[in-house]
Amino acid sequence: STPSVDTDTTTAVPAAGTTPPKNLRREVERRRTFAVISHPDAGKSTLTEALALHARKISEAGAIHGKSGRRSTVSDWMEMEKARGISVSSTALQFDYADHTINLVDTPGHADFSEDTYRVLTAVDAAVMLIDAAKGLEPQTLKLFQVCRHRGIPVITVVNKWDRPGRSPLELLDEIEERIGLTPTPLYWPVGIAGDFRGLLDVSEHQYIHFTRTAGGATIAPEEFMDSEAAQSREGDDWTTAVEESELLVESGQRHDEDEFLAGRTSPVIFASAMLNFGVHQILDTLVSFAPAPGPRPDVAGGEREVTDPFSAVVFKVQAGMDTAHRDRLAFMRVVSGVFERGMVVTHAQTGKPFTTKYALTVFGRERTTVENAYPGDVVGLVNATALAPGHTLYADRKVEFPPIPSFAPEHFAVLRAESASKYKQFRRAVDQMDQEGVVQILRNDIRGDASPVLAAVGPMQFEVVSARMKSEFGVEARMEPLGYSIARRTDAASAGELGRQRGVEVFTRTDGVMLALVSDKWRLQYIQKELPDLLLEPLVAAA
Ligand code: G4P
Repeated sequence: STPSVDTDTTTAVPAAGTTPPKNLRREVERRRTFAVISHPDAGKSTLTEALALHARKISEAGAIHGKSGRRSTVSDWMEMEKARGISVSSTALQFDYADHTINLVDTPGHADFSEDTYRVLTAVDAAVMLIDAAKGLEPQTLKLFQVCRHRGIPVITVVNKWDRPGRSPLELLDEIEERIGLTPTPLYWPVGIAGDFRGLLDVSEHQYIHFTRTAGGATIAPEEFMDSEAAQSREGDDWTTAVEESELLVESGQRHDEDEFLAGRTSPVIFASAMLNFGVHQILDTLVSFAPAPGPRPDVAGGEREVTDPFSAVVFKVQAGMDTAHRDRLAFMRVVSGVFERGMVVTHAQTGKPFTTKYALTVFGRERTTVENAYPGDVVGLVNATALAPGHTLYADRKVEFPPIPSFAPEHFAVLRAESASKYKQFRRAVDQMDQEGVVQILRNDIRGDASPVLAAVGPMQFEVVSARMKSEFGVEARMEPLGYSIARRTDAASAGELGRQRGVEVFTRTDGVMLALVSDKWRLQYIQKELPDLLLEPLVAAA
Protein backbone atom coordinates (compact mmCIF):
# COMPACT_ATOMS: atom_id res chain seq x y z
CA SER A 1 0.00 0.00 0.00
CA THR A 2 1.10 3.57 -0.60
CA PRO A 3 2.24 5.37 2.50
CA SER A 4 0.23 8.51 3.08
CA VAL A 5 2.39 11.55 2.79
CA ASP A 6 0.29 14.58 3.35
CA THR A 7 -2.70 13.37 5.34
CA ASP A 8 -3.18 16.61 7.25
CA THR A 9 -4.87 18.22 4.27
CA THR A 10 -7.62 15.64 4.14
CA THR A 11 -10.76 16.45 6.05
CA ALA A 12 -14.16 14.88 6.40
CA VAL A 13 -15.57 17.48 4.03
CA PRO A 14 -15.82 16.02 0.56
CA ALA A 15 -13.92 17.87 -2.13
CA ALA A 16 -15.64 19.10 -5.28
CA GLY A 17 -16.80 16.31 -7.50
CA THR A 18 -16.55 13.58 -4.87
CA THR A 19 -19.55 11.46 -4.05
CA PRO A 20 -21.66 12.62 -1.12
CA PRO A 21 -21.46 10.74 2.19
CA LYS A 22 -23.40 7.46 2.14
CA ASN A 23 -25.76 8.48 4.88
CA LEU A 24 -26.69 11.82 3.32
CA ARG A 25 -29.65 10.59 1.30
CA ARG A 26 -30.97 8.70 4.28
CA GLU A 27 -30.61 11.74 6.55
CA VAL A 28 -32.53 13.81 4.01
CA GLU A 29 -35.30 11.25 3.65
CA ARG A 30 -35.93 11.16 7.35
CA ARG A 31 -36.19 14.92 7.76
CA ARG A 32 -39.34 17.02 7.94
CA THR A 33 -39.14 20.80 8.23
CA PHE A 34 -42.32 22.74 8.88
CA ALA A 35 -43.85 25.85 10.45
CA VAL A 36 -47.17 26.46 12.16
CA ILE A 37 -49.27 29.21 10.61
CA SER A 38 -52.10 30.62 12.68
CA HIS A 39 -53.87 33.68 13.96
CA PRO A 40 -52.67 34.86 17.41
CA ASP A 41 -54.30 32.83 20.20
CA ALA A 42 -55.18 29.82 18.07
CA GLY A 43 -52.74 27.86 20.23
CA LYS A 44 -49.41 27.85 18.38
CA SER A 45 -47.30 28.07 21.53
CA THR A 46 -49.39 25.46 23.26
CA LEU A 47 -49.06 23.13 20.28
CA THR A 48 -45.29 23.72 20.09
CA GLU A 49 -45.02 22.69 23.71
CA ALA A 50 -47.22 19.68 23.16
CA LEU A 51 -45.06 18.58 20.23
CA ALA A 52 -41.93 19.03 22.31
CA LEU A 53 -43.58 17.01 25.04
CA HIS A 54 -44.38 14.16 22.66
CA ALA A 55 -40.86 14.22 21.36
CA ARG A 56 -39.70 13.97 24.99
CA LYS A 57 -37.80 17.21 24.51
CA ILE A 58 -39.43 18.59 27.63
CA SER A 59 -40.95 16.63 30.48
CA GLU A 60 -43.95 18.80 31.20
CA ALA A 61 -45.93 21.25 29.07
CA GLY A 62 -45.94 24.77 30.44
CA ALA A 63 -42.30 24.43 31.39
CA ILE A 64 -41.00 26.73 28.70
CA HIS A 65 -43.31 29.66 28.88
CA GLY A 66 -45.91 30.32 31.51
CA LYS A 67 -49.16 30.34 29.64
CA SER A 68 -50.45 33.43 31.36
CA GLY A 69 -49.06 36.88 30.62
CA ARG A 70 -50.21 37.42 27.06
CA ARG A 71 -48.05 39.79 25.12
CA SER A 72 -50.21 42.70 24.23
CA THR A 73 -47.89 45.67 24.02
CA VAL A 74 -44.52 46.23 22.46
CA SER A 75 -42.79 46.51 25.81
CA ASP A 76 -44.22 43.14 26.76
CA TRP A 77 -42.99 41.81 23.50
CA MET A 78 -39.52 43.21 23.99
CA GLU A 79 -39.41 41.89 27.53
CA MET A 80 -40.47 38.51 26.33
CA GLU A 81 -37.95 38.65 23.56
CA LYS A 82 -35.31 39.19 26.22
CA ALA A 83 -36.62 36.46 28.42
CA ARG A 84 -36.60 34.32 25.29
CA GLY A 85 -39.90 32.66 25.90
CA ILE A 86 -40.40 29.94 23.35
CA SER A 87 -43.41 31.64 21.82
CA VAL A 88 -41.34 34.65 20.88
CA SER A 89 -38.02 33.63 19.48
CA SER A 90 -37.39 29.97 19.78
CA THR A 91 -36.48 30.00 16.08
CA ALA A 92 -36.25 26.27 15.56
CA LEU A 93 -37.04 23.23 17.56
CA GLN A 94 -35.46 20.00 16.43
CA PHE A 95 -36.57 16.64 17.74
CA ASP A 96 -36.62 13.01 16.79
CA TYR A 97 -39.86 11.18 16.33
CA ALA A 98 -40.52 7.72 14.94
CA ASP A 99 -37.10 7.44 13.38
CA HIS A 100 -37.44 10.87 11.81
CA THR A 101 -35.83 14.21 12.60
CA ILE A 102 -38.35 17.02 12.72
CA ASN A 103 -37.53 20.72 12.51
CA LEU A 104 -40.26 23.07 13.65
CA VAL A 105 -39.36 26.59 12.57
CA ASP A 106 -41.05 29.29 14.62
CA THR A 107 -42.98 32.15 13.04
CA PRO A 108 -43.41 35.48 14.83
CA GLY A 109 -46.82 35.90 16.39
CA HIS A 110 -47.62 39.51 15.60
CA ALA A 111 -49.03 40.65 12.25
CA ASP A 112 -46.55 43.54 12.13
CA PHE A 113 -43.82 41.01 11.59
CA SER A 114 -45.42 39.44 8.57
CA GLU A 115 -42.27 40.06 6.58
CA ASP A 116 -40.30 37.93 9.04
CA THR A 117 -42.95 35.26 8.76
CA TYR A 118 -42.64 35.33 5.00
CA ARG A 119 -38.88 34.80 5.32
CA VAL A 120 -39.41 31.90 7.70
CA LEU A 121 -41.78 30.28 5.24
CA THR A 122 -39.01 30.27 2.62
CA ALA A 123 -37.18 27.85 4.92
CA VAL A 124 -39.84 25.16 5.37
CA ASP A 125 -41.19 22.29 3.27
CA ALA A 126 -44.67 22.11 4.81
CA ALA A 127 -46.99 24.08 7.07
CA VAL A 128 -49.50 23.19 9.75
CA MET A 129 -52.47 25.57 9.54
CA LEU A 130 -53.80 25.79 13.08
CA ILE A 131 -57.42 26.84 13.43
CA ASP A 132 -59.46 27.60 16.53
CA ALA A 133 -62.55 25.34 16.48
CA ALA A 134 -64.79 28.18 17.57
CA LYS A 135 -63.38 30.84 15.25
CA GLY A 136 -62.54 29.05 12.02
CA LEU A 137 -60.37 30.89 9.49
CA GLU A 138 -59.16 34.21 10.88
CA PRO A 139 -57.47 37.11 9.03
CA GLN A 140 -53.86 36.22 9.74
CA THR A 141 -54.44 32.55 9.01
CA LEU A 142 -55.75 33.56 5.60
CA LYS A 143 -52.82 35.83 4.85
CA LEU A 144 -50.27 33.23 5.84
CA PHE A 145 -52.11 30.57 3.90
CA GLN A 146 -51.82 32.78 0.80
CA VAL A 147 -48.05 32.89 1.32
CA CYS A 148 -47.96 29.09 1.49
CA ARG A 149 -50.02 28.83 -1.67
CA HIS A 150 -47.80 31.35 -3.42
CA ARG A 151 -44.69 29.41 -2.47
CA GLY A 152 -46.20 26.00 -3.17
CA ILE A 153 -45.93 24.82 0.44
CA PRO A 154 -48.31 21.93 1.23
CA VAL A 155 -50.59 22.59 4.19
CA ILE A 156 -51.87 20.21 6.89
CA THR A 157 -54.96 21.54 8.70
CA VAL A 158 -55.30 21.14 12.46
CA VAL A 159 -58.56 22.17 14.10
CA ASN A 160 -57.52 23.01 17.65
CA LYS A 161 -59.37 23.49 20.95
CA TRP A 162 -61.86 20.71 20.28
CA ASP A 163 -62.17 20.39 24.05
CA ARG A 164 -64.07 23.69 24.03
CA PRO A 165 -67.49 24.48 22.57
CA GLY A 166 -67.10 25.36 18.91
CA ARG A 167 -68.55 24.85 15.47
CA SER A 168 -69.48 21.61 13.77
CA PRO A 169 -66.68 19.78 11.95
CA LEU A 170 -68.48 19.83 8.59
CA GLU A 171 -69.15 23.54 8.85
CA LEU A 172 -65.47 24.23 9.59
CA LEU A 173 -64.32 22.19 6.61
CA ASP A 174 -66.90 23.83 4.36
CA GLU A 175 -65.46 27.17 5.30
CA ILE A 176 -61.97 26.06 4.29
CA GLU A 177 -63.17 24.74 0.97
CA GLU A 178 -65.28 27.78 0.16
CA ARG A 179 -63.02 30.57 1.35
CA ILE A 180 -59.62 29.34 0.24
CA GLY A 181 -60.44 26.69 -2.30
CA LEU A 182 -58.46 24.02 -0.49
CA THR A 183 -60.14 20.62 -0.40
CA PRO A 184 -59.99 19.21 3.14
CA THR A 185 -59.39 15.47 3.39
CA PRO A 186 -60.21 14.07 6.84
CA LEU A 187 -57.58 11.88 8.49
CA TYR A 188 -58.59 12.02 12.15
CA TRP A 189 -62.23 12.89 12.83
CA PRO A 190 -63.47 13.96 16.25
CA VAL A 191 -65.64 11.63 18.29
CA GLY A 192 -67.83 13.89 20.42
CA ILE A 193 -68.89 17.44 19.61
CA ALA A 194 -66.62 20.43 20.28
CA GLY A 195 -66.55 20.73 24.04
CA ASP A 196 -66.98 16.99 24.54
CA PHE A 197 -63.84 15.60 22.95
CA ARG A 198 -63.74 11.85 23.56
CA GLY A 199 -61.29 10.69 20.97
CA LEU A 200 -60.48 10.43 17.27
CA LEU A 201 -61.65 8.23 14.46
CA ASP A 202 -58.68 7.22 12.34
CA VAL A 203 -60.48 7.51 9.01
CA SER A 204 -58.24 5.27 6.92
CA GLU A 205 -57.75 2.56 9.55
CA HIS A 206 -61.34 2.77 10.74
CA GLN A 207 -60.03 2.64 14.26
CA TYR A 208 -60.96 4.54 17.40
CA ILE A 209 -58.35 6.32 19.48
CA HIS A 210 -59.68 7.11 22.91
CA PHE A 211 -57.82 9.68 24.98
CA THR A 212 -57.69 10.06 28.72
CA ARG A 213 -57.19 13.50 30.21
CA THR A 214 -54.17 14.12 32.39
CA ALA A 215 -53.95 16.82 35.07
CA GLY A 216 -53.92 20.17 33.27
CA GLY A 217 -52.84 18.48 30.05
CA ALA A 218 -49.27 18.72 31.31
CA THR A 219 -48.29 15.21 30.33
CA ILE A 220 -49.01 13.01 27.31
CA ALA A 221 -52.63 11.85 27.25
CA PRO A 222 -52.80 8.04 27.33
CA GLU A 223 -54.28 6.55 24.16
CA GLU A 224 -56.35 3.41 23.81
CA PHE A 225 -56.93 1.89 20.38
CA MET A 226 -60.23 0.15 19.64
CA ASP A 227 -61.94 -1.39 16.67
CA SER A 228 -65.22 -0.12 15.33
CA GLU A 229 -67.32 -2.49 17.39
CA ALA A 230 -65.69 -1.62 20.69
CA ALA A 231 -65.91 2.07 19.80
CA GLN A 232 -69.59 1.72 19.00
CA SER A 233 -70.37 0.10 22.31
CA ARG A 234 -68.31 2.63 24.21
CA GLU A 235 -69.33 5.89 22.51
CA GLY A 236 -72.69 4.98 20.94
CA ASP A 237 -74.13 7.79 18.82
CA ASP A 238 -70.98 9.88 19.01
CA TRP A 239 -69.12 7.11 17.20
CA THR A 240 -71.88 6.67 14.61
CA THR A 241 -71.94 10.41 13.91
CA ALA A 242 -68.17 10.55 13.48
CA VAL A 243 -68.25 7.64 11.03
CA GLU A 244 -71.15 9.13 9.05
CA GLU A 245 -69.69 12.61 8.85
CA SER A 246 -66.25 11.53 7.77
CA GLU A 247 -67.68 9.07 5.25
CA LEU A 248 -69.73 11.85 3.74
CA LEU A 249 -66.51 13.58 2.77
CA VAL A 250 -64.62 10.48 1.74
CA GLU A 251 -67.51 9.36 -0.49
CA SER A 252 -67.59 12.74 -2.19
CA GLY A 253 -63.95 12.15 -3.13
CA GLN A 254 -62.31 14.02 -0.26
CA ARG A 255 -59.75 11.41 0.57
CA HIS A 256 -56.05 11.94 1.01
CA ASP A 257 -54.05 11.72 -2.18
CA GLU A 258 -50.35 12.42 -1.83
CA ASP A 259 -49.95 14.14 -5.21
CA GLU A 260 -52.96 16.38 -4.68
CA PHE A 261 -51.67 17.31 -1.23
CA LEU A 262 -48.15 18.09 -2.48
CA ALA A 263 -49.64 20.16 -5.30
CA GLY A 264 -51.41 22.29 -2.68
CA ARG A 265 -54.92 21.33 -3.78
CA THR A 266 -55.94 19.27 -0.76
CA SER A 267 -55.17 19.43 2.92
CA PRO A 268 -55.29 16.53 5.38
CA VAL A 269 -57.33 17.43 8.47
CA ILE A 270 -56.77 16.49 12.09
CA PHE A 271 -58.92 17.54 15.04
CA ALA A 272 -56.99 18.15 18.23
CA SER A 273 -56.64 19.81 21.57
CA ALA A 274 -53.13 21.13 22.03
CA MET A 275 -53.95 21.92 25.63
CA LEU A 276 -55.08 18.40 26.52
CA ASN A 277 -52.52 16.78 24.26
CA PHE A 278 -55.23 15.07 22.24
CA GLY A 279 -54.33 14.45 18.61
CA VAL A 280 -50.75 15.67 18.93
CA HIS A 281 -49.33 12.27 18.28
CA GLN A 282 -51.49 12.10 15.15
CA ILE A 283 -50.15 15.44 13.90
CA LEU A 284 -46.63 14.05 14.17
CA ASP A 285 -47.62 10.82 12.42
CA THR A 286 -49.15 12.85 9.59
CA LEU A 287 -46.02 14.95 9.17
CA VAL A 288 -43.86 11.86 9.07
CA SER A 289 -46.12 9.99 6.64
CA PHE A 290 -47.17 12.75 4.27
CA ALA A 291 -45.11 15.95 4.55
CA PRO A 292 -42.31 16.06 1.99
CA ALA A 293 -38.64 15.52 2.82
CA PRO A 294 -36.29 18.36 1.82
CA GLY A 295 -35.93 18.66 -1.95
CA PRO A 296 -33.89 20.61 -4.50
CA ARG A 297 -33.98 24.43 -4.48
CA PRO A 298 -33.96 26.65 -7.58
CA ASP A 299 -30.92 28.92 -7.96
CA VAL A 300 -30.54 32.32 -9.65
CA ALA A 301 -28.96 30.76 -12.72
CA GLY A 302 -32.16 28.84 -13.49
CA GLY A 303 -30.81 25.50 -12.29
CA GLU A 304 -31.43 23.57 -9.11
CA ARG A 305 -29.26 22.66 -6.16
CA GLU A 306 -29.87 18.98 -5.41
CA VAL A 307 -29.88 17.90 -1.77
CA THR A 308 -26.92 15.63 -2.45
CA ASP A 309 -24.83 18.44 -3.97
CA PRO A 310 -22.02 19.95 -1.87
CA PHE A 311 -23.04 22.03 1.13
CA SER A 312 -25.22 25.08 0.60
CA ALA A 313 -27.64 26.99 2.81
CA VAL A 314 -29.91 29.98 2.71
CA VAL A 315 -30.10 32.60 5.49
CA PHE A 316 -33.72 33.32 6.39
CA LYS A 317 -33.51 35.27 9.60
CA VAL A 318 -31.08 37.45 11.46
CA GLN A 319 -31.63 38.21 15.08
CA ALA A 320 -29.62 40.42 17.37
CA GLY A 321 -29.75 40.97 21.08
CA MET A 322 -31.04 37.50 21.88
CA ASP A 323 -28.56 37.31 24.66
CA THR A 324 -28.08 40.76 26.15
CA ALA A 325 -25.07 39.62 28.14
CA HIS A 326 -23.20 38.80 24.96
CA ARG A 327 -24.71 41.33 22.56
CA ASP A 328 -24.55 38.71 19.91
CA ARG A 329 -26.08 38.48 16.55
CA LEU A 330 -27.31 35.23 15.11
CA ALA A 331 -27.92 34.46 11.48
CA PHE A 332 -30.16 31.45 10.94
CA MET A 333 -29.63 29.35 7.87
CA ARG A 334 -31.53 26.43 6.48
CA VAL A 335 -29.28 23.79 5.00
CA VAL A 336 -30.25 23.21 1.37
CA SER A 337 -27.71 20.63 0.25
CA GLY A 338 -24.84 18.52 1.48
CA VAL A 339 -23.54 18.08 4.98
CA PHE A 340 -22.76 20.96 7.30
CA GLU A 341 -19.89 20.38 9.67
CA ARG A 342 -19.09 22.90 12.33
CA GLY A 343 -15.83 24.64 11.60
CA MET A 344 -16.00 24.18 7.86
CA VAL A 345 -15.08 27.21 5.80
CA VAL A 346 -17.88 28.24 3.48
CA THR A 347 -18.26 31.05 0.97
CA HIS A 348 -20.72 33.89 1.35
CA ALA A 349 -22.14 34.13 -2.16
CA GLN A 350 -23.08 37.82 -1.97
CA THR A 351 -19.53 38.99 -1.16
CA GLY A 352 -17.48 36.04 -2.33
CA LYS A 353 -15.75 36.08 1.05
CA PRO A 354 -14.88 32.98 3.09
CA PHE A 355 -16.75 32.47 6.31
CA THR A 356 -15.71 30.22 9.18
CA THR A 357 -18.53 28.40 10.89
CA LYS A 358 -16.86 27.88 14.21
CA TYR A 359 -19.83 28.95 16.31
CA ALA A 360 -22.88 27.08 15.15
CA LEU A 361 -25.89 26.65 17.39
CA THR A 362 -29.46 25.56 17.68
CA VAL A 363 -31.67 27.75 19.80
CA PHE A 364 -34.67 26.43 21.65
CA GLY A 365 -36.17 28.49 24.42
CA ARG A 366 -33.25 29.42 26.64
CA GLU A 367 -31.30 26.48 25.51
CA ARG A 368 -28.44 26.79 23.07
CA THR A 369 -26.71 23.72 21.81
CA THR A 370 -23.62 23.54 19.67
CA VAL A 371 -24.29 21.93 16.32
CA GLU A 372 -21.61 19.61 14.99
CA ASN A 373 -23.41 18.35 11.89
CA ALA A 374 -26.49 19.36 10.01
CA TYR A 375 -28.28 18.04 6.95
CA PRO A 376 -30.69 19.49 4.38
CA GLY A 377 -33.79 20.79 6.16
CA ASP A 378 -31.96 21.58 9.39
CA VAL A 379 -31.71 25.07 10.84
CA VAL A 380 -28.41 26.31 12.22
CA GLY A 381 -27.71 29.62 13.97
CA LEU A 382 -24.35 31.18 13.18
CA VAL A 383 -22.95 33.47 15.84
CA ASN A 384 -21.75 36.97 14.94
CA ALA A 385 -22.14 36.45 11.25
CA THR A 386 -22.26 40.19 10.67
CA ALA A 387 -22.24 40.15 6.87
CA LEU A 388 -25.18 37.79 6.55
CA ALA A 389 -28.68 39.03 5.79
CA PRO A 390 -31.98 37.28 5.03
CA GLY A 391 -31.92 35.79 1.56
CA HIS A 392 -28.14 35.34 1.44
CA THR A 393 -26.47 32.13 0.31
CA LEU A 394 -23.60 30.16 1.84
CA TYR A 395 -21.93 27.35 -0.04
CA ALA A 396 -18.92 25.07 -0.12
CA ASP A 397 -17.03 23.58 -3.05
CA ARG A 398 -19.42 24.40 -5.86
CA LYS A 399 -20.77 27.91 -6.24
CA VAL A 400 -24.46 28.54 -6.02
CA GLU A 401 -26.65 31.53 -5.30
CA PHE A 402 -30.32 31.30 -4.36
CA PRO A 403 -32.82 33.95 -5.41
CA PRO A 404 -33.25 36.79 -2.93
CA ILE A 405 -36.32 36.84 -0.69
CA PRO A 406 -38.57 39.60 -2.01
CA SER A 407 -39.13 42.45 0.42
CA PHE A 408 -42.65 43.66 1.06
CA ALA A 409 -44.24 46.94 0.10
CA PRO A 410 -43.88 49.13 3.19
CA GLU A 411 -46.92 51.09 4.32
CA HIS A 412 -45.52 53.07 7.25
CA PHE A 413 -42.77 55.66 7.06
CA ALA A 414 -40.90 57.75 9.61
CA VAL A 415 -37.82 59.99 9.72
CA LEU A 416 -35.22 58.94 12.22
CA ARG A 417 -33.01 61.55 13.91
CA ALA A 418 -30.28 61.18 16.51
CA GLU A 419 -31.07 63.23 19.61
CA SER A 420 -27.46 64.16 20.09
CA ALA A 421 -24.92 64.93 17.35
CA SER A 422 -22.08 63.54 19.45
CA LYS A 423 -23.45 60.03 19.09
CA TYR A 424 -23.68 60.21 15.32
CA LYS A 425 -21.26 57.36 14.73
CA GLN A 426 -23.24 54.97 16.91
CA PHE A 427 -26.43 56.20 15.30
CA ARG A 428 -25.05 55.43 11.87
CA ARG A 429 -23.88 52.00 12.96
CA ALA A 430 -27.26 51.17 14.51
CA VAL A 431 -29.11 52.22 11.36
CA ASP A 432 -26.84 50.16 9.12
CA GLN A 433 -27.15 47.16 11.37
CA MET A 434 -30.94 47.15 11.44
CA ASP A 435 -31.10 47.79 7.74
CA GLN A 436 -28.93 44.79 7.08
CA GLU A 437 -30.87 42.55 9.42
CA GLY A 438 -34.05 43.50 7.62
CA VAL A 439 -35.72 44.88 10.75
CA VAL A 440 -36.90 47.82 8.64
CA GLN A 441 -36.05 49.15 5.20
CA ILE A 442 -33.87 52.29 5.12
CA LEU A 443 -34.51 54.98 2.51
CA ARG A 444 -32.35 57.99 1.77
CA ASN A 445 -32.33 60.99 -0.53
CA ASP A 446 -30.00 63.96 -1.02
CA ILE A 447 -32.44 66.50 0.35
CA ARG A 448 -32.84 64.82 3.72
CA GLY A 449 -29.23 63.72 3.93
CA ASP A 450 -27.57 60.89 5.77
CA ALA A 451 -28.32 62.18 9.25
CA SER A 452 -32.04 61.69 8.85
CA PRO A 453 -32.80 58.46 7.02
CA VAL A 454 -36.36 57.37 6.49
CA LEU A 455 -37.51 54.08 7.97
CA ALA A 456 -40.05 52.08 6.00
CA ALA A 457 -42.02 49.28 7.61
CA VAL A 458 -44.85 46.87 6.91
CA GLY A 459 -46.23 47.29 10.45
CA PRO A 460 -45.65 50.15 12.91
CA MET A 461 -44.41 47.81 15.63
CA GLN A 462 -41.19 47.46 13.63
CA PHE A 463 -40.46 51.14 14.44
CA GLU A 464 -40.79 50.49 18.13
CA VAL A 465 -38.36 47.63 17.87
CA VAL A 466 -35.88 50.01 16.19
CA SER A 467 -36.27 52.61 18.96
CA ALA A 468 -35.91 50.09 21.72
CA ARG A 469 -32.87 48.46 20.17
CA MET A 470 -31.18 51.79 19.36
CA LYS A 471 -31.27 52.56 23.04
CA SER A 472 -30.52 49.18 24.57
CA GLU A 473 -27.91 47.91 22.12
CA PHE A 474 -26.25 51.04 20.80
CA GLY A 475 -26.90 53.55 23.57
CA VAL A 476 -28.42 56.06 21.14
CA GLU A 477 -31.53 58.10 21.77
CA ALA A 478 -33.33 58.67 18.50
CA ARG A 479 -36.45 60.57 17.58
CA MET A 480 -38.94 59.24 15.10
CA GLU A 481 -41.31 61.47 13.18
CA PRO A 482 -44.03 59.79 11.17
CA LEU A 483 -44.28 60.87 7.54
CA GLY A 484 -47.58 61.34 5.76
CA TYR A 485 -47.06 58.69 3.10
CA SER A 486 -48.88 55.39 2.85
CA ILE A 487 -47.81 53.92 -0.49
CA ALA A 488 -44.42 52.96 -1.92
CA ARG A 489 -43.94 52.31 -5.62
CA ARG A 490 -40.87 51.33 -7.55
CA THR A 491 -39.63 54.02 -9.90
CA ASP A 492 -36.44 54.84 -11.84
CA ALA A 493 -34.02 57.70 -12.44
CA ALA A 494 -35.89 58.77 -15.59
CA SER A 495 -39.13 59.31 -13.67
CA ALA A 496 -37.62 60.56 -10.41
CA GLY A 497 -37.27 64.25 -11.38
CA GLU A 498 -40.84 64.71 -12.50
CA LEU A 499 -42.22 62.68 -9.60
CA GLY A 500 -40.22 64.73 -7.11
CA ARG A 501 -42.01 67.87 -8.31
CA GLN A 502 -45.44 66.42 -7.58
CA ARG A 503 -47.30 67.36 -4.45
CA GLY A 504 -47.56 64.49 -1.92
CA VAL A 505 -44.66 62.56 -3.46
CA GLU A 506 -41.03 62.08 -2.44
CA VAL A 507 -38.42 59.91 -4.13
CA PHE A 508 -35.87 57.85 -2.22
CA THR A 509 -33.21 55.23 -2.85
CA ARG A 510 -33.33 52.08 -0.76
CA THR A 511 -30.08 50.48 0.40
CA ASP A 512 -30.37 47.78 -2.25
CA GLY A 513 -30.38 50.52 -4.89
CA VAL A 514 -34.07 50.34 -5.73
CA MET A 515 -35.68 53.76 -6.20
CA LEU A 516 -38.96 54.21 -4.38
CA ALA A 517 -41.56 56.92 -4.79
CA LEU A 518 -43.52 57.47 -1.59
CA VAL A 519 -47.03 58.75 -2.22
CA SER A 520 -49.41 60.25 0.33
CA ASP A 521 -52.49 58.22 -0.58
CA LYS A 522 -54.16 56.23 -3.32
CA TRP A 523 -56.08 59.22 -4.73
CA ARG A 524 -52.84 61.13 -5.25
CA LEU A 525 -51.37 58.03 -6.87
CA GLN A 526 -54.34 57.63 -9.21
CA TYR A 527 -54.20 61.31 -10.14
CA ILE A 528 -50.49 61.13 -11.06
CA GLN A 529 -50.95 57.90 -13.00
CA LYS A 530 -53.72 59.56 -15.00
CA GLU A 531 -51.96 62.89 -15.62
CA LEU A 532 -48.47 61.50 -16.17
CA PRO A 533 -48.96 57.98 -17.50
CA ASP A 534 -45.37 57.64 -18.71
CA LEU A 535 -43.85 57.77 -15.23
CA LEU A 536 -42.79 54.47 -13.73
CA LEU A 537 -44.82 53.65 -10.61
CA GLU A 538 -44.65 49.91 -10.29
CA PRO A 539 -46.32 48.05 -7.39
CA LEU A 540 -44.06 46.17 -4.97
CA VAL A 541 -44.80 42.75 -3.47
CA ALA A 542 -47.82 43.23 -1.22
CA ALA A 543 -47.58 42.26 2.44
CA ALA A 544 -48.78 38.78 3.25
P1 G4P B 1 -50.72 31.47 20.28
O1 G4P B 1 -49.32 31.05 20.56
O2 G4P B 1 -51.27 30.93 19.01
O3 G4P B 1 -50.96 32.93 20.40
O4 G4P B 1 -51.68 30.80 21.39
P2 G4P B 1 -51.35 30.13 22.77
O5 G4P B 1 -50.74 28.81 22.61
O6 G4P B 1 -50.64 31.09 23.65
O7 G4P B 1 -52.83 29.89 23.28
C1 G4P B 1 -53.77 30.94 23.40
C2 G4P B 1 -54.79 30.57 24.47
O8 G4P B 1 -55.53 29.44 24.02
C3 G4P B 1 -54.18 30.20 25.79
O9 G4P B 1 -55.11 30.59 26.79
C4 G4P B 1 -54.12 28.69 25.71
O10 G4P B 1 -54.11 28.08 26.96
C5 G4P B 1 -55.40 28.40 24.96
N1 G4P B 1 -55.37 27.11 24.24
C6 G4P B 1 -54.43 26.68 23.36
N2 G4P B 1 -54.75 25.45 22.91
C7 G4P B 1 -55.90 25.12 23.51
C8 G4P B 1 -56.74 23.96 23.45
O11 G4P B 1 -56.48 22.99 22.75
N3 G4P B 1 -57.86 23.99 24.22
C9 G4P B 1 -58.19 25.04 25.02
N4 G4P B 1 -59.29 24.97 25.72
N5 G4P B 1 -57.42 26.13 25.09
C10 G4P B 1 -56.30 26.17 24.35
P3 G4P B 1 -54.94 31.84 27.70
O12 G4P B 1 -56.23 32.11 28.32
O13 G4P B 1 -54.30 32.95 26.95
O14 G4P B 1 -53.92 31.37 28.75
P4 G4P B 1 -54.22 30.38 29.97
O15 G4P B 1 -55.25 31.07 30.77
O16 G4P B 1 -54.72 29.10 29.37
O17 G4P B 1 -52.93 30.25 30.64
